[in-house]
Amino acid sequence: MAWERETDDGATDPATGLTPLLDRRWSSRVFDPAHELTDGDLTALLHAARWAPSAGNSQPWAFLVGRRDDPTHRAFVELLSRGNAFWAPRASALLITLHRTASEPGSEFLYSEYAQYDLGQAAAHLTVQAQSMGLAVHQFAGFDHDRVATVFGVPDHWRVTTAIAVGRPAPVESIEGLEPSLAIRERQVRRRNPLSDFVFDGRFGQSAAWTVRHELPGDGTTG
Ligand SMILES: Cc1cc2nc3c(=O)[nH]c(=O)nc-3n(C[C@H](O)[C@H](O)[C@H](O)COP(=O)(O)O)c2cc1C
Repeated sequence: MAWERETDDGATDPATGLTPLLDRRWSSRVFDPAHELTDGDLTALLHAARWAPSAGNSQPWAFLVGRRDDPTHRAFVELLSRGNAFWAPRASALLITLHRTASEPGSEFLYSEYAQYDLGQAAAHLTVQAQSMGLAVHQFAGFDHDRVATVFGVPDHWRVTTAIAVGRPAPVESIEGLEPSLAIRERQVRRRNPLSDFVFDGRFGQSAAWTVRHELPGDGTTG
């Protein structure tokens, strides 16, 4: 059983009806720096992405995978934003996500209007798969996208999109010398806008009445 954070998010209210896989998910910034992902772990995670639905089954995704301290990982770590460089390198693997923008190099024809949506969905499936395996995922976009494209030879009909840190979550006390700001953020209560802010019926902007009746402790200003 993997370590789990104790902070009580509103999501843990049984009234949400969330599956524990989603209820217990959060974007950890504290990863066990000794944990390694096996080929089998990575294979399962990427099959989860592979089996995501996509518009017309276009599967417009690709992943560049680096395991801690391998050449892909080392090259990518150099390109992280300052904020992400504090925590992301400790994860067992960093995956760079890409979506396909055109059918072939130099082509002006859009590959799929929904490519970015589909990649996001594949990433979400990977995240849930990771949670089921006792792993944590933290998606992030703070890195030099242009340099990633150059360093890894990404052709012009693919776009570097985000990155995904995967590893075994660890308690903040387990990492010696952990940056204090990371420890604070790791323990922060997670917040979401209430359903009534974004679930409508009749017309856009009109909250569905049943959402108002189901406001929960975790509802509130996003923090
Ligand atoms: C597209 C995208 C980009 C993100 N970029 C960053 C980032 O650069 N650094 C970071 O620490 N977190 C990043 N995040 C994580 C979000 O901040 C996080 O998911 C959000 O605050 C909600 O927290 P939770 O996932 O723990 O519920 C990103 C998430 C997504 C989906």
